[in-house]
Amino acid sequence: MRIPDFNEARTRDKREYKRLVGKYNGKKYFIKTYGCQMNEHDSEVISALLEKLGFERVDNYLDADLVLLNTCSIRENAHNKAFGMLGRLKHLKLDKKDLIIGLTGCMAQEASVVDEILRDYKFVNFVCGTHNLNELPSIIDKSIESNKQQIEVYSREGDLYEGLPVVRTNNYKAYVNIIYGCDKFCTYCIVPYTRGRERSREKEDILAEVDELIKDGYKEITLLGQNVNAYGKDLYDDYNLGNLLEDIALKDIPRVRFMTSHPWDFNDKMIEVIGKYKNIMPSVHLPVQSGSNKILKLMGRRYTRESYLELFHKIKDTVPGVAISTDIIVGFPGETEEDFLETMSLVEECKYDNAFTFIFSVRRGTPAEKIKDNTSLSEKEERLQRLNEVVNKYFLENNQKLVGTVLNVLVEGVSEKKDMYYGYSDTNKLINFTSSKELMPGDLVDVEITSAKTWSLDGKVK
Ligand code: 5AD
Ligand code: SF4
Repeated sequence: MRIPDFNEARTRDKREYKRLVGKYNGKKYFIKTYGCQMNEHDSEVISALLEKLGFERVDNYLDADLVLLNTCSIRENAHNKAFGMLGRLKHLKLDKKDLIIGLTGCMAQEASVVDEILRDYKFVNFVCGTHNLNELPSIIDKSIESNKQQIEVYSREGDLYEGLPVVRTNNYKAYVNIIYGCDKFCTYCIVPYTRGRERSREKEDILAEVDELIKDGYKEITLLGQNVNAYGKDLYDDYNLGNLLEDIALKDIPRVRFMTSHPWDFNDKMIEVIGKYKNIMPSVHLPVQSGSNKILKLMGRRYTRESYLELFHKIKDTVPGVAISTDIIVGFPGETEEDFLETMSLVEECKYDNAFTFIFSVRRGTPAEKIKDNTSLSEKEERLQRLNEVVNKYFLENNQKLVGTVLNVLVEGVSEKKDMYYGYSDTNKLINFTSSKELMPGDLVDVEITSAKTWSLDGKVK
């Protein structure tokens, strides 16, 4: 592993970068993104870097000269998908010898993955870690010029890079990173290892990016971070997510979102600000993971069922019309039927508007790997099914309560059947609707809700 010296890396990169602009004009790239919004946003930066080199994006990997997989490690499933794609690319490369294949993202930070690539995937041209994306242009150039496999992964994070280019996939909705990494070290989670320690961006840089987006006509920005509620802790004594949200809400931007929130870092100031400003969307993603205090402790979540519920109700009581969503893991090692029933009863109390439910997936090198697990996979699957039935019941019930109300919707486009528009409400619900007036993506309209389904609502523009 090479020892990082980021100051040097930055200056070298800037010089090299100039040399590389336009060098690959006419070549085509394909990028496949796995995992969360952080990865989606990284792919927007990667695309911009590649396009500066001259690469042009294609939607089919068979047409590409360069294929990049921006990977995710969160669960085994994501890991297997990326390796499945590498299998397909191996075949393709038999016919297309010049094809360049690269891997970035969280899997690139895992020593076991890099070992496997070095050993069994020699056709992969390069691996670039999450901490040195800025070096991607020179890594690609070196792997093309030298025809040798390039593995450039720093195990520790360095300074943040401001000013990297970005090609946004959308011209009315934008992601803005506010904090990178995670210091929570939940015992099941690989993110603190693949994404490094918590590092906030300077508030001036964030506000300048928001101003730029407003100038470009963006309607909605989503502040991103593994844990946005830790924003500012590493930089300021008295400036946190609440202050940042307030500074952004005072600008001329119709919609501000933020995700994800760790319950442990939520404070009253943040809740108050979210409730106070109309352009901060009343939608909070508040992962609970489990309703059992025993399991929460084993997970290292730093809150109890009781303190979570207190926070949950405080948010519900302070933010008018708020929708709260969550993440839940079933089958964590040591989870008994009684523990699981505690999760079920918590869901009965919270009646979430949305929930992402997962079976625990053991990640190599995390503390949870060592906890004894007596529950069979079939039992875990059965728990997941029971949990999904309850969460779905509440999605539908919550949606049914909205029939007859009017929701503000940001238009995304026309549905597949082409007979309806679709978009998302302020509470982030998917709305399919009709309109006698022609609408464009990015328009904000008031929609009267006429019927409810489990995962969406139907309506018409008033
Ligand atoms: N197994 C299953 N689910 C996981 N998550 C994170 N790590 C794991 C794991 N090892 C889930 C958590 C988290 C969401 C992003 O992914 O619920 O909130
Ligand atoms: Fe993973 Fe926990 Fe950090 Fe979320 S808060 S990224 S679950 S370690």
